[in-house]
Amino acid sequence: MDASASPLELFQAWLDEARKACPDNPDAIALATADATGTPDVRYVLLKRISAEGLEFFTNRASSKGRQLEARPHAALAAYWRELGRQVRARGPVDELPRERVAEYFATRRRPSQLGAWASKQSAELAAAEELRERLAALEKKFAGQDVPPPEHWTGYRMQPLEIEFWQEGDARLHERVLYSRIEAGAAWTTRRLQP
Ligand SMILES: Cc1cc2nc3c(=O)[nH]c(=O)nc-3n(C[C@H](O)[C@H](O)[C@H](O)COP(=O)(O)O)c2cc1C
Repeated sequence: MDASASPLELFQAWLDEARKACPDNPDAIALATADATGTPDVRYVLLKRISAEGLEFFTNRASSKGRQLEARPHAALAAYWRELGRQVRARGPVDELPRERVAEYFATRRRPSQLGAWASKQSAELAAAEELRERLAALEKKFAGQDVPPPEHWTGYRMQPLEIEFWQEGDARLHERVLYSRIEAGAAWTTRRLQP
């Protein structure tokens, strides 16, 4: 593992390799947030972009995770690529992406996903499956022949990690672990090797 690279660049390099080597959702990350009582919650989302500014994912602001992030804008995430024997973990503050970036990404989604973002009140109770189908049918009519804009409740978030750990599976459980940390976004990274 090249511990001299910037961790965000290394994360990108590992994700690029995973895209070639791992057939199943190589960009899926487990995203952990905390609810109002401090109890952890976790679910998978797709990591859509890694840049010097941080790690981006998209969801519904009114979902459980959206409400948890509004109350406590901090998260942890983990990616695992079985075929490569690799894990990456990150922790840090999270903020909402600018509306232009949300619209830019939304425009790249397939139309059924765009309409689904309008139809689903993510994480709210669904009384009957038809309810969702009916809403979808009504939206197909509403947006017939036009581009689908992002709904107001649909948004993107960016984690600015203060810690990123890279884990490479080794022989006889001698896994390699490198932890990068910094005191705030924009500050210099320090690197430590950890015992497995
Ligand atoms: C592989 C995978 C990828 C997913 N990607 C997303 C995603 O990018 N955004 C999203 O809102 N939900 C995604 N989901 C669904 C979430 O795991 C979750 O069910 C949903 O966001 C509601 O979570 P919440 O109630 O904790 O807010 C994905 C699920 C899986 C299994």
